[in-house]
Amino acid sequence: MRRHIKKAIFPAAGLGTRFLPATKASPKEMMPIVDKPLIQYAVEEAISCGIEEFVIITGKHKRAIEDHFDSAYELEEKLRTTGKKKLLEEINKLSHINFAYIRQRVALGLGHAILCAQPFVQEEPFAVLLSDDVIDPDYFLLQEMIKVYDELKCPVIALEEVPRAEVSRYGVIDGVQDGDVYRIKSLVEKPKPEDSPSNLAIIGRYILTPDIFDILGKQKPGAGGEIQLTDALKDLLNRRVIYGYLAKGKRYDAGDKLGYLKATVDLALKNRELSVDFKNYLLEKIKTLT
Ligand code: G1P
Repeated sequence: MRRHIKKAIFPAAGLGTRFLPATKASPKEMMPIVDKPLIQYAVEEAISCGIEEFVIITGKHKRAIEDHFDSAYELEEKLRTTGKKKLLEEINKLSHINFAYIRQRVALGLGHAILCAQPFVQEEPFAVLLSDDVIDPDYFLLQEMIKVYDELKCPVIALEEVPRAEVSRYGVIDGVQDGDVYRIKSLVEKPKPEDSPSNLAIIGRYILTPDIFDILGKQKPGAGGEIQLTDALKDLLNRRVIYGYLAKGKRYDAGDKLGYLKATVDLALKNRELSVDFKNYLLEKIKTLT
C-alpha cells in the first residue's frame, strides 16, 4: 500500500525545566538513554515507519542537536585510523538522512512549535514525535498509528491509560471506544484530576492533517500560558473526526526523572553488550535493598 505519511516533526524547543540543572545549557533531547540521545530514538522510530523527511523545531541552546546529526570529520578520521570500525558505523548510521531545522524564536508552546513547521509540511498529513516520550524500540506504535490513518484518513493521537492522580501532566481525551480506536469527543490540556473527563492521556505521537495549521495560527494561549496543540485539536473536532489509539507497548516519560531512570534500566537490560553484567549488578543491588 502507498504510504501517505512521509514527513515528521520533532519539536525540540522546550526549556526542559523538569530536568534542571542538567538542561540549563544542554538540550533535554540530547540526554542519553544508555548511549543514544532521546531524539535519536525518536528519529530511528520514524525511519522504521518509512518517514523520509525530518524537521526538528529547535530554539536557543539547541545547537548540539544539529551537531549530533551532522558529520564529525575529525572524530570520523580518528576512528578510521585507529580501526574503530563499529563506532564509526554507529556514528554514521543516520548520515543518509537529511534534516531540516526550523528555529522557534520564543518558546510559546507545543502548538506554536508545530505551527513553525507549516512551510515544511504544506498540504500533507504528517507525524509528530515528542522525544521525551520514549517508546520501547521493540514496539511499533507509530507504524500502527499510520496504519489507522491509512484506513480512516483522520488525525490519530496516541493514548495511554494513566493513574487519575497523574492526568494533570497530560492532555486528556473524552471518547467512545470503537473497536481498536477511540472516537474523540473532546480534549483538555492538563486537567485537574477531579475535572478530568477520563484517564486516557495523550502521549507524544500524533498523525496530523494540515488543516490543524489554520487553527494553530489563531490559537490563544491555554494551560501554562502556552499555545497548546490539545486546544487546537479540540477546535479541529468541529470540522472533522479525530481518533485516539491506545498504545499497546511500553512508553517511558523520559522527561521526568523517574521515567528517565526506568527507561535507562529497561533499555540497558536489552542492550546486547550490557545486559548480562547490568542484570547481575541489579540482582546484587536488590539484595542490599531488601
Ligand atoms: C505535551 C502535550 C500533552 C501531552 C504530552 C505527552 O505536554 O501538550 O497534551 O499529553 O506532551 O508527553 P508536555 O509534556 O510538553 O507538557
